[in-house]
Amino acid sequence: MSQKPWGGRFTRDTSKIVEEFTASIHFDKRLYKQDIRGSMVHARMLGKCGIITEAESKQIVQGLEEILAEIQRGEFAFLTELEDIHMAIERRLIEKIGEVGGKLHTARSRNDQVALDLRLYLREETQQLIDLIKQAQLSLLTLAENNLEVIMPGYTHLQRAQPILFAHHVMAYVEMLERDKERFQDCQKRINVLPLGSAALAGTSFPIDREFVARELGFQEVSRNSIDAVSDRDFVIETASVASLLMMHLSRLCEELVLWSSAEFGFIELSDAFCTGSSIMPQKKNPDVPELIRGKTGRVYGALLSLLTTMKSLPLAYNRDMQEDKEPIFEVIDTVKASLQILSELLLEVKVNRSRTFQAANDGFSTATDVADYLVRKGIPFRVAHEITGNLIRYCLEQGKKLLDLDLEEFRKFSRDFDSDILQVIQVSESVNSRKSRGGTARECVVKAIEEAKKRLGGLEIQKHRE
Ligand code: ARG
Repeated sequence: MSQKPWGGRFTRDTSKIVEEFTASIHFDKRLYKQDIRGSMVHARMLGKCGIITEAESKQIVQGLEEILAEIQRGEFAFLTELEDIHMAIERRLIEKIGEVGGKLHTARSRNDQVALDLRLYLREETQQLIDLIKQAQLSLLTLAENNLEVIMPGYTHLQRAQPILFAHHVMAYVEMLERDKERFQDCQKRINVLPLGSAALAGTSFPIDREFVARELGFQEVSRNSIDAVSDRDFVIETASVASLLMMHLSRLCEELVLWSSAEFGFIELSDAFCTGSSIMPQKKNPDVPELIRGKTGRVYGALLSLLTTMKSLPLAYNRDMQEDKEPIFEVIDTVKASLQILSELLLEVKVNRSRTFQAANDGFSTATDVADYLVRKGIPFRVAHEITGNLIRYCLEQGKKLLDLDLEEFRKFSRDFDSDILQVIQVSESVNSRKSRGGTARECVVKAIEEAKKRLGGLEIQKHRE
């Protein structure tokens, strides 16, 4: 019989297909570092509390250290029959140091162990995500700052609405990412709770020291209920949910990059290094990277739904269903990291075609609101001003003219309140710089917003991964 750590009460070997079906080692081996780190602290705690001897504790820690090195050298055999990373490491430990290795699992269960590993893992990964979000924000800030003079049409309903600074539009994404960062930071509060010591579900009769373990592993808190601690995966779902919001934001940005780099818009050009060609149409340069980030958003939402569904209606406490939490959350982490990394680099090489954006802002009637506001300043109620301006626009459409083509006489046909300064008011740059309300698009507001955002990032520098 193959020696399962739980083999005692069994009289027959596990069938091969069951082993394969239940094994998680091919994906949870990713948690080996966290698993070993947790076990080392657990062993030291057992020694310190006199549950095992100090000598035994040292032997175990030493053995674990060697196993860590073996894994890092690629010498460790991750065997399916050992089911998961926890049992594989324990089995190797016993192989190396003998029976005493079997004392490591005292006052512990795989249920609190796996919860611990996942928390350690997500604590590190969310920190990396936060750092990568900062990098993306820096890239956006750089793009905004390098294009402070660029005016473009702002849109509602994807129809030209009012002229804005390109930089103001870009800064909108800095704000979205700021909230995503805050949400990950908030998530970390709930991730950073120690579950170890809950054992299978009811706690343990051994005189363990959970505070010691928490301190050594850098946990802010110790879980208050052993049943909750082994059955809670909120922190996993929450991370996936915050990641979904982040991907939603990235997908909107990517959608705009795709639109703007099309011939129809022609607002930006993406660097050749981030595009690919077509195997049949020689003229094509495709924005694959933003398209793929937009597409990968689906994976992250899918993972969130998968996690929510796995946990739905599960009775307390641990159920094997919960093993299904790992692949989706790994997928989330990998996808979001890769997306943020590549997007940060791509953004640094975006070229803006300022004459195209300016022309687009001037085409159409993007300063119509400014005309109405002008009349309001002359004492006309906004609704009436809106009507007058509407008539003016209709006249332009009939004459095939833009607002900028009109002379003062034509304006005055619609209202005697128009004076020569109206010809200034309809300039897009005037329109932009008049919007000085807090958070508005006026240059001075945007410059300030950039300064403040930089300050929040605290002198962080752009890191290049490529080349
Ligand atoms: N591989 C398991 C998981 O990922 C570890 C916990 C197993 N616990 C158990 N009682 N079978 O959830």
